[in-house]
Amino acid sequence: AKITFITSDNEKIEVEGESGSVMELAVENGVEGIDGDCGGVCSCATCHVHVASEDMAKVGPAGEIEQDMLELDDNFNERSRLCCQIEISDDIDGITLNVAH
Ligand code: FES
Repeated sequence: AKITFITSDNEKIEVEGESGSVMELAVENGVEGIDGDCGGVCSCATCHVHVASEDMAKVGPAGEIEQDMLELDDNFNERSRLCCQIEISDDIDGITLNVAH
């Protein structure tokens, strides 16, 4: 799946991955602002992204534990996800994620 990240500096980074989490893909590609400090277990929020509104249906809503974590973050909004909880698959091909830091 092809995924586009937009960093807080408005830099556009297009990456492509087959499997694993979106956070891992971002870290591998050095996407600024996605740190993945907790290793992808939904407990650090350093992988916080805002999903582009037109891609919300593809990505789907946050899980319950993820939502609790997100609400603690200052930049929380209704398009927030922790991208370590987004699994790469063809279903999310072409999405755009704004780094939320
Ligand atoms: Fe820590 Fe996603 S990497 S919450």
